[in-house]
Amino acid sequence: MSTDPVRPYRPADRDQVVALWQACDLTRPWNDPDADIGRALETPTSTLLVHAAEPGRVTGTLMVGYDGHRGWMYYLASDPAARGGGIARALVQRAEEFLRAQGCPKVELMVRGTNAAALGFYDRLGYEAQDVVVRAKWLSGGT
Ligand SMILES: CC(C)(COP(=O)(O)OP(=O)(O)OC[C@H]1O[C@@H](n2cnc3c(N)ncnc32)[C@H](O)[C@@H]1OP(=O)(O)O)[C@@H](O)C(=O)NCCC(=O)NCCS
Repeated sequence: MSTDPVRPYRPADRDQVVALWQACDLTRPWNDPDADIGRALETPTSTLLVHAAEPGRVTGTLMVGYDGHRGWMYYLASDPAARGGGIARALVQRAEEFLRAQGCPKVELMVRGTNAAALGFYDRLGYEAQDVVVRAKWLSGGT
């Protein structure tokens, strides 16, 4: 019997998750990974999903949350040595299930326009381009 490789984050995953985000160029000076993980886990309608191809070996991540209107996904990462094997697809499918179970009607995400791999991936999964411009304002004193 095969075990589902996608499961919720556990504290023991922390170092591998951060290393994966660094390897995937997802970390930014203004985003503290520990604070980001902590907030996702403390919020009842959000979670951090982990793909573990083998027990104890993190091979993918996806943060997902429902804000009461839309679902949002962040930190999609797939082990660079295992790309093209369905890791990201499995994570997104689980995130969609997580949102559907809460009654969320639509899921969205932000991708840098230069990230051809992520755009190609999301195209493949049927995620359509939206004619919007993202604007943001720090509420926490960040810059
Ligand atoms: C984008 C990313 C998550 C894809 O991960 P992955 O595990 O290789 O993707 P999967 O194997 O699940 O691919 C699922 C499908 O998307 C397709 N796909 C994956 N990458 C693709 C690409 N660069 N261009 C076109 N299609 C792509 C696959 O061919 C596959 O199609 P199929 O199932 O019909 O054969 C991975 O490249 C990554 O981690 N990139 C760095 C981090 C990043 O940019 N994250 C997104 C931030 S918004």
